[in-house]
Amino acid sequence: MISLDDFEKYARDNLPKKVFNYVSNGAADQQTLHDNRNAFKRLRIRPRVLRDVSKRDLSATIIGQHVPFPIGICPTAIQKLSGSDGETATARAASSMGTIMILSTYATCSIEEVAHAAPTGHLWLQMYLFTDRKLTADLIHRAERAGYKAIVVTIDSPIAGNRLNDERYGGFNPAVRIPNVEGSSYRPVSGSVQPAYGPDELSESLTWSDIRWVKTLSSLPVIVKGILSGDAAREALAAGVDGILVSNHGGRQLDGVPASIDALAEVIAVTQGTNVEVYLDGGVRLGTDVLKALALGARAVFIGRPVWWGLTYKGEEGVRKVLELLRDELSLAMALSGCSSVGDLGPSMLTRGPSSNL
Ligand SMILES: Cc1cc2nc3c(=O)[nH]c(=O)nc-3n(C[C@H](O)[C@H](O)[C@H](O)COP(=O)(O)O)c2cc1C
Repeated sequence: MISLDDFEKYARDNLPKKVFNYVSNGAADQQTLHDNRNAFKRLRIRPRVLRDVSKRDLSATIIGQHVPFPIGICPTAIQKLSGSDGETATARAASSMGTIMILSTYATCSIEEVAHAAPTGHLWLQMYLFTDRKLTADLIHRAERAGYKAIVVTIDSPIAGNRLNDERYGGFNPAVRIPNVEGSSYRPVSGSVQPAYGPDELSESLTWSDIRWVKTLSSLPVIVKGILSGDAAREALAAGVDGILVSNHGGRQLDGVPASIDALAEVIAVTQGTNVEVYLDGGVRLGTDVLKALALGARAVFIGRPVWWGLTYKGEEGVRKVLELLRDELSLAMALSGCSSVGDLGPSMLTRGPSSNL
């Protein structure tokens, strides 16, 4: 297990095929899924040389929280399907490494269970906004009471993307429980892979005014997840958000949108000079990917599918190994490119390589 590829291979060989497909799939033709990786490869690093890199500081401050390295965990639903303890294992791993975990609304462990598992963790709650406003508000209040540090609203999913392989391979129709929404008006859609995606539950009529409403519900910072353009970033600023997660949902929503890393510079340009922090997820698999995103101005990156691979490998310990590996690769990439702190990274360190080399 010396690269994230090894973890992916382990998951492919050991997860039930349906589950591996659910995790690895993108939407439709999967163009964006693949482009998330390829776009990182198109960017090349221009290393600095003969800098003293004997001491390297990977730490960062994210929404006021000190983290030892800027790699967090993005929300992925129903993690117990990995055969592990699911989100509590992920939270313990993130907490032991001092980094951030974003819990999905559609988790298989409740907001409170996860907080209990990682009492000193940097936990954020990801929200889908439901047609049932009381349910939405209750979840945010529960997160605040349980000590979560931020609310992340996913804004690229007024409706689920066209995940053809989920349809091809059918649903789990499992005894999967989504405790956060149990007892509400939410009803599982029988046979669906992701049981909570029912047309009546997710609000398709969301607008920026709903983000302003979310801001009034608690004192927690609000981050929007799913921005891919400067125009959308401008609207987010106008709505008063505290952070922007540049993301295309791991290529699972609208196929054909840009790779996250290709959209980053445009969003950074809009937020420059403001207090709004910008993060990125989508296709981060190598320390050099992290370095590239930070060089373009991201405050932190988040990983999704690799967490599943770690969970499949060894639960909490597996997720910790995934985080350690990426952290150590980032440290190495910084040393070899002449950077001793993340503040040394900047866009002049990157150039575009010929795409024929992919
Ligand atoms: C299995 C799976 C489940 C996901 N569930 C959610 C979710 O519940 N909420 C959400 O905002 N994003 C969800 N996402 C998207 C991730 O948060 C993230 O944007 C994406 O996985 C990042 O790309 P990566 O997997 O290439 O690292 C999910 C992604 C996967 C692979």
